[in-house]
Amino acid sequence: MNRLTTAVGLTALATGVVALASVADAASLSVSVKPFGTMPDGQAVQMYRLENSNGMEVDVITYGGAVQSIKVPDKNGKIDDVALGFDNLDGYLHTDTYFGALIGRYGNRIAKGEFALDGKTYHLPINNGPNSLHGGTTGFDKRVWAASKIETPNAVGVELTLFSQDGDMGYPGDLAVTVQYTLDNDNDLRVHYSAVTDKPTDLNLTNHTYFNLAGAGNGAVLDQVAMINADKITPVDSTLIPTGKMMDVAGTDLGFTTPTPIGAHIHADNQQLKYAEPKQGGYDFNYVFDNPGDLNALAASVTDPQSGRTVEMYTDQPGVQFYTSNFVHDVHGKDGKIYPHWGGFTLEAQHFPDSPNQPSFPSTELKPGEKYSQTTIYKFLPTNLPS
Ligand code: GAL
Repeated sequence: MNRLTTAVGLTALATGVVALASVADAASLSVSVKPFGTMPDGQAVQMYRLENSNGMEVDVITYGGAVQSIKVPDKNGKIDDVALGFDNLDGYLHTDTYFGALIGRYGNRIAKGEFALDGKTYHLPINNGPNSLHGGTTGFDKRVWAASKIETPNAVGVELTLFSQDGDMGYPGDLAVTVQYTLDNDNDLRVHYSAVTDKPTDLNLTNHTYFNLAGAGNGAVLDQVAMINADKITPVDSTLIPTGKMMDVAGTDLGFTTPTPIGAHIHADNQQLKYAEPKQGGYDFNYVFDNPGDLNALAASVTDPQSGRTVEMYTDQPGVQFYTSNFVHDVHGKDGKIYPHWGGFTLEAQHFPDSPNQPSFPSTELKPGEKYSQTTIYKFLPTNLPS
C-alpha cells in the first residue's frame, strides 16, 4: 500500500463517517467558505464560517485548524468577538501564541523532549526551555489541514483532516487525524477529535483558543469569574513539568471549585503561581477533573459579569490546562486591538502534561487498531437573539 492509499484508508477509519447527513436547517444554520491567504509555498488557506440562529458566528481557518473568531451576543444582544486571533495569515505565521489552534501530536510539555515506548526512546524537538511543547517546532498548529463542510439537520461545521507521517517531529507511527468543529442553535461549539495510527505512539490533542468574554482586546480577564470542577492539579517544577504528584487546591489560591474572579489570587505569594509567571503570577496548570470522562458534567465555566457572557466547557478528557496568557504581552490582534498581559484565558481539555514519562498518570498511548476519540463542547450563554 503506498503512502496515499494508507492516508486515505486511515482517514476514513479515523472519521468513522461514511456520508454526512443531508442539509442543515437552511433558515438558521449556515456554513460558508472563503480564501484566507496563501502559504509561502503557495498552498491556499481557507476560512470556514459557521453561523447559527442566535447571531453566533465561528470562523475556523485551515492553517492550524485554528478558531479565528467567535462572535457571540451579550445579555443585551450586543455581538462581540470573544476569541483572540489575527486578521490575516501573516499574523498566524509570525507569532507563536497558538491562538485558537489545534495542538498535536502532544498538547503541553514532554520533559526534555524524550519518551520511551516498547523499549525504544524517541527524541522530540526541544522548543520550550529544556522541554518539548505542543508537538514540537512544527506541530499541527503550523500545518494546513484539508477541509470540507459539515451540514446536518441540527448543526453546521467543518471537518479537518491531517496525515502525519511516521517520525513527524520525532513521534512514531503514521497517524491520520480528523477534527470536526460543529455549531448548533444551542450555542454549542463542539470539537470532536479522532485519530488512528499504524504503530504504537503517544497522542494528546487539544484546542488552544484564548477567550476574553468582554471581547478580545477589551482589557484583561482578571474580573471574569472562573469555576473549574477539579479539587486537584498536577503541580509543576520551574520548567512547568509535573512533579508526578497531585496537589489539593480546593479553597486555596489555586482552586476554582467555587466561582472566583481569575484575578482574585493571581498575585498571591504561591510557588506554583510564580512558576507559571515569575514576575506577577499567573495560572498555567493542569486541573484534574472530579468527574473525568463525563461529557454531561459541567467541567468548567467562566462568566464576564459586565457583559453577562458565559462559556461553559464539557469534555470527556481527564484534565484541562487553564492558562491566563502569561506569555502574551501587548500582541497586535484583530481589528487593530492590542491583547494585553492576561488578556485571555484558555481551557485546553486534555490528558495530563508529560504523561508518557509519568507512570501514575492516565496513559496517552495509542495502539494500532485503537481509535483515539475526544469530544469537548464550548457552550456560550446567553443564547438570546440580538434585538
Ligand atoms: C499553553 C501552556 C503555556 C504556554 C502556552 C503557549 O498551553 O500551558 O505554558 O506555553 O501554551 O504560549
